[in-house]
Amino acid sequence: MPKIRLGVNIDHVATVRNARGEDYPDPLRAALQAEKYGAESVTIHLREDRRHINESDLKRIITKLRIPLNLEIAATKEMLKIALKRKPPFICIVPEKRKEITTEGGLNLNYRRKFLATIIKKLKKNRSRVSLFIEPNLKDIKDSKNLNADCVEIHTGKFCNLVNKNKNYKKEFVKIKNAINYGNKLGLEIHAGHGLTYKSARILSNIQGIKEFNIGHFLVGESIFVGLERTIKKFKNIIK
Ligand code: PXP
Repeated sequence: MPKIRLGVNIDHVATVRNARGEDYPDPLRAALQAEKYGAESVTIHLREDRRHINESDLKRIITKLRIPLNLEIAATKEMLKIALKRKPPFICIVPEKRKEITTEGGLNLNYRRKFLATIIKKLKKNRSRVSLFIEPNLKDIKDSKNLNADCVEIHTGKFCNLVNKNKNYKKEFVKIKNAINYGNKLGLEIHAGHGLTYKSARILSNIQGIKEFNIGHFLVGESIFVGLERTIKKFKNIIK
């Protein structure tokens, strides 16, 4: 089975930093350690409210990182401008609601669809690989293809919640599997992310056709106890 790449999301290193308004722990240090310990990409989400990563982080990280930076952004004019300027190799367009704790659910591809199509076109022309963060359903896969995205990232949050609560996840697993198969058939590169732990990543890595996992909250939390090196290596071992 082809290898699944590991993207390490370091947003929550910035969350800890911002809790005290100091300049540590430094997300750049985390990004460079993730690279050193085998991450295939680093993900950061520049939110409208800058609750974790800020533009200075983006600038510093993109300058120093040698593996691809995956920038998550909402489909807004402000974020488009920043992304066009900074030219991250990977971009993932995500929905954003001010009051949410984290990204709740995938994009609504029918909301301001024309603008979304324009953003995708401009980012691709600017040589960024564009991914759309979507729910695991066939319509969104097809719409993503029609919007000319390079990749889709399947929102695994619901599945991971069921796994964490030891509930029956079979239906959600099948939904994700069907979405992946259909996406592959249409020629989309498939990624998966949100809420992944060792256990849920292990289960999902049995599905053929996933090219990349993006993992943050659990990974950063686990690193408090055993360090980024051990956590990243363990994830890589699980998803290989
Ligand atoms: N993928 C996307 C598109 C996300 O928005 C997030 C959360 O920022 C993640 C993956 C990572 O999710 P988690 O932090 O729960 O691992």
